[in-house]
Amino acid sequence: MTVERVGVAFEPELLRKFDDMIKGMGYASRSEAVRDVVRKAIIESEINAEKGDVMGTITIIYDHRAGNVTDRLLRLQHHHQSEIISTTHIHASRRMCLEVIVVRGKAEDVKNLAGRLRATKGVKHGKLVMTKTEL
Ligand code: NI
Repeated sequence: MTVERVGVAFEPELLRKFDDMIKGMGYASRSEAVRDVVRKAIIESEINAEKGDVMGTITIIYDHRAGNVTDRLLRLQHHHQSEIISTTHIHASRRMCLEVIVVRGKAEDVKNLAGRLRATKGVKHGKLVMTKTEL
């Protein structure tokens, strides 16, 4: 891989905070850590702009005894079967279930699915994590 060198000026305080942050994170060099930050910013910017295909996970926590939440979540997931790769269900406690849904598709479709899952009555918490595989 060819690389292009650039000089970046930092205020000492900012650089100190950055070095503190990456200490112990396993980076071989400060350059690698900076490249990672740039990659992350690009991925997040593209995802926020809803461009192209994304992969990710949707994690939801719900009380399986709340109304017909299980039925509704199942129906919703079948309706979105083209975006869902797999679903892992964990019986977290007597009442609570945790599901991790692995998704792939257009960013807007994945966001839409996550929003609908979160909005389902009985779902206490939902979090979508998206990433891109092409960068
Ligand atoms: Ni369960």
